[in-house]
Parts: sequence; structure tokens; C-alpha cells
Amino acid sequence: MKYSSTHTNPRALSVLDLAQMKVQGEKIACLTAYDASFSLLLDQAGVDVILVGDSLGMVIQGQGSTIPVTLDEMIYHSRCVAGAKKRAFLVTDLPFMSYSDPQMAALNAARLMREGGAEMVKLEGGRQHLEAVCHLTAQGIPVCAHLGLLPQSVHQLGGYRVQGKTEQDAKRLLEDALSLQAAGAKLLVLECVPSGLAKRVSEQLSIPIIGIGAGVDCDGQVLVLYDMLNISHGKRPRFSRNFMIDGNDIEAAIAAYVVAVKACQFPAKEHSFK
Ligand code: KIV
Repeated sequence: MKYSSTHTNPRALSVLDLAQMKVQGEKIACLTAYDASFSLLLDQAGVDVILVGDSLGMVIQGQGSTIPVTLDEMIYHSRCVAGAKKRAFLVTDLPFMSYSDPQMAALNAARLMREGGAEMVKLEGGRQHLEAVCHLTAQGIPVCAHLGLLPQSVHQLGGYRVQGKTEQDAKRLLEDALSLQAAGAKLLVLECVPSGLAKRVSEQLSIPIIGIGAGVDCDGQVLVLYDMLNISHGKRPRFSRNFMIDGNDIEAAIAAYVVAVKACQFPAKEHSFK
């Protein structure tokens, strides 16, 4: 196992660097990771943001959704990732029902930062969480919001479906995005929405928008690592791509992903929704 970063710019990225990348039109490459070995590989390949996603419930634990994941499990995986990376900015998910009121959100986010080494916490949902986002921001806890397909609400949504397809839903999502930004969110993940809507959101917000199944016009892209390495069980989502095809080892696949995101070659039309 290698422990030294070979990336040419090992200075740790901050939330300000991500904001600056949006201003300069440099795409933000983000991938999920759940352990130290992959954290180091992603860091060395130039991935800008590592997300310790609660997708670990599905790809690590083999559960049917992200709902069973606990705060202690998120802290454990976040700590594993945080200890190995040098340059990438680290975002960790607040799991299901761990942020349903502002005080609970702050206590749980503090544990993710203190014990898990998170540099930002992510929560799913819009207007119902504005108070929590305001409260976290006021306490000095950076927040990444998440709109569109919300995996923690899969049973309410009736499945993993594209969101924001009607003009009414699109308008509501755009309003939510603007309100989350006003409440203090510094990053927004937009999952499974039509490309045209993601473009509108990216243009109207000043914070970086990280898309997954949201077209090429977002300010950055994220994928679940195991999907793009083609090692997830079950069917790979349409918005993902098997990057192992581009290289014959994991390091080459991750490097190909970073290049493809930066060059706007991923996602292509076939990974996007109308
Ligand atoms: O949990 C996760 O990995 C995520 C990404 C799919 C954005 O939230």
C-alpha cells in the first residue's frame, strides 16, 4: 500500500476553492469513497471532492436502500476516508432522520466533523430543512444540500425516478435551491433531474452545483465509485458509466473519470435525462 500523495498540488482544497472553480468555469470532479485505500487513490488522481455517501448502505452493506445507515456507521467510514486524503475536500452525508430538527442536525453534524473528520455535511431535501441549514451555517458547519431524487425518501417518491419533470415541479425545485443558498448552503447536489432544469439551477445559483444524472451543464459531477468501477451488484444506473473500459486498472479508471469531467466529456447525452 502506498501512503504518499503523488498529486502535483497537494494543498488541501477548501470551500473557497470550490466556489472559485465555479467562477473560473473549471468543472469539479467528485466521487464517493468509504475507506482509506480508495480515499488515497481518488486523492492522487486529482478528484476534487470526496463524498462519504450513505450509498455505503447499498454498496458496502448490501442493503436495499440508504435508510438503515446509522450515524455511527457514517462516522466510522468518514474517519477512514479523512485520514488518508490530502488534497480533496471531504463531504459526509448526514443519514436518514439525523437532521429532522435544527438542534439534532447540529449535534449530529458536529460528530461527523469532530469524530469523522468531515469538512462539510450533506443533507437531503429543500424547504423543510431551511431552518436546519441556517442553524448549521450559523454554528460554522458548512452544508451541502441535495435536491432532485432523494434516496432517503425513496419510499415516499415511489422508487428511484427522475424528478422535476413537470414545470410545476421544476419551479418548486428551483425555489428550493435558491432558498437553500440563501440559508447558507455552500454546495448543492442535484440528482436525476432533466438536463435543462439542472442548467437553469446552475446558471441561477452562485454556489457550485454537483450533478448526478443531471446533464453536463452542472458545475461538477459525482458518481458512486462502485458504479463507475462496475463492481456494484445489480444494474448500473443509466446516468453512470463504466470507466474500467477506459483503462485496465482502477487508478486509470479514476484518472479517466477526472479527465472526462474536466473536459465536459462526461456525462454524455446517453447518461442524461430530458
Ligand atoms: O450517498 C451518495 O453516494 C450520494 C450520491 C449519490 C450523490 O448522495
